[in-house]
Amino acid sequence: MRSLLSLSSSWLLVLGLACGPNSNGQGDEGLGPIESLDTSEAGITAFVREGRYRDWVAEPKVHATRAPHQARVRVFFNDTAVTSLRAGNAVHPVGTILVKELFAEDGVTKKGHAVEVKVAEGPGKDTWLFYEGFTPDYTRNYYGRGHDTCHGCHAAGTDYVTTPLP
Ligand code: HEC
Repeated sequence: MRSLLSLSSSWLLVLGLACGPNSNGQGDEGLGPIESLDTSEAGITAFVREGRYRDWVAEPKVHATRAPHQARVRVFFNDTAVTSLRAGNAVHPVGTILVKELFAEDGVTKKGHAVEVKVAEGPGKDTWLFYEGFTPDYTRNYYGRGHDTCHGCHAAGTDYVTTPLP
């Protein structure tokens, strides 16, 4: 019984670790720039903090999320994402980028950003680089190709994209 208990608590520990932000700001999958985005963790952090996606096609307004954790969201689509979603592609091309702004309940206070970047052609979780960072300092982020925290829910989308083009 005792060993069973300690076994289950170590599993809880493993699960807990797998669910938390696990990168220190310095991650780099070594993929270089994609569509002029520096795909290192620091590169994506700078990109979202500077709002370099703000002139992309976007959902018309901030709305309640269907996912847990953050309260309200707004999704932005780069040109490659727009073209691919419009064409109804089952698999999106390299260079498809989506940014989700995360807000508190008031819909104004920014809580962070989630990003998906298509980094390889074809299907599968490893063709996507996932990133999520949080205000104020974006030092404890989710970052990684086929990230374990992210791909599960997103598998329900079309090639991991769940938000329809507005
Ligand atoms: C519990 C399920 C769930 C998990 C886990 C999850 N997401 Fe999402 N994600 C969603 C849903 C639902 C949406 C649609 C927008 C909304 O309702 O927030 C979404 C939308 C997005 C979008 C906008 C593009 C799209 O596909 O709709 C990005 C970018 C994104 N998530 C990134 C991430 C990253 C990065 C992670 C891992 C750190 C992650 N998500 C983990 C459920 C999830």
